[in-house]
Amino acid sequence: MAIISSKKQPPEPNGEPKQRRESAKAASTDNILQPQAAIDEQDKQEEGIRPQRFADYIGQKDLKDVLDIAIKAAKSRNEVLDHLLLYGPPGLGKTTMAMILASEMGVSCKITSAPALERPRDIVGLLVNLKPGDILFVDEIHRLSRMTEEILYPAMEDYRLDITIGKGSSARIRSVPLSKFTLVGATTRVGALTSPLRDRFGLVQKLRFYEVDELSKIVLRTAQLLKTPVTEDGATEIARRSRGTPRIANRLLKRVRDYAEVKLSGEITEIVASEALQLFQVDPCGLDWTDRKMLSVIIEHFNGGPVGLETIAAATGEDTQTIEEVYEPYLMQIGYLSRTPRGRTATKAAYKHLGFTPPNEQLSLL
Ligand code: ADE
Repeated sequence: MAIISSKKQPPEPNGEPKQRRESAKAASTDNILQPQAAIDEQDKQEEGIRPQRFADYIGQKDLKDVLDIAIKAAKSRNEVLDHLLLYGPPGLGKTTMAMILASEMGVSCKITSAPALERPRDIVGLLVNLKPGDILFVDEIHRLSRMTEEILYPAMEDYRLDITIGKGSSARIRSVPLSKFTLVGATTRVGALTSPLRDRFGLVQKLRFYEVDELSKIVLRTAQLLKTPVTEDGATEIARRSRGTPRIANRLLKRVRDYAEVKLSGEITEIVASEALQLFQVDPCGLDWTDRKMLSVIIEHFNGGPVGLETIAAATGEDTQTIEEVYEPYLMQIGYLSRTPRGRTATKAAYKHLGFTPPNEQLSLL
């Protein structure tokens, strides 16, 4: 399977407050818990540990079952796979899934992201070079420009490229046939897709956060590939602090491995993992400075909420989009935060986790 990647990093949505946040965090986690892919050496290392086939892919059982059927049906009819939209928080394996689909179908996977497709000719160049059955993976598909999106409609529906030749009243449309292909779109914001685009996907599937036992198996598998000794309890300790996200689990494993090698014998046990992650300010539930700040602002300054998103963003120095797409999904998943029409509220569990007495229990203390 050939993989061709043309991703471009999106611009920082909000520069100044982020700097403020960095200084507030001081010698903290260095974004160790950010589920977005890092564009550096780490990314390349990720390639070596990425599962290549369904048999190696841990978790997301429901999704794997759906895709397994789709693959078998497409193969038996000698057809291409239906277009697939994958959505869910970052770091859960959307790109990996697209690459596995390509391996299982025996085709190539071309990887790109919406910010790299600014001009119509960017998408045209990719489409005309697709071979029959190829997978075109478009990350952050909710960010496509209108023109690029409109080129995709006939391409997805009829495997056809409509090119406008000339201008004004003499303009004519010429149709160019394309190879039959599969578009795999990935997004963290399925609600931000236009309905004409969303409706053109035959399969729309959600990736969910991973359970601790699934993440623990992922840590054990990665440790084996990295030739790092780790006990089952050590793997579970890392898994527990990984926010339900394999990318974070693998990143934490590498940090704990460094700690174990520098400070100790090299083996990652539960105590070693816990000591190392405490040093990196990753708490036992995987919360970092921003999570704790968000919750403590709601509890200490607003009596537990409801509090508006903008207020939380200002208090943490984080942009609203990152709060909504990265921080809140996990805090809601573990039952520490709820979103109400009037704003965000901290739950009783959040009070307890941060060492505060929940309001209804305060009354009984009087
Ligand atoms: N590495 C990252 N995600 C994985 C997964 N779901 N299964 C196995 N290894 C992984």
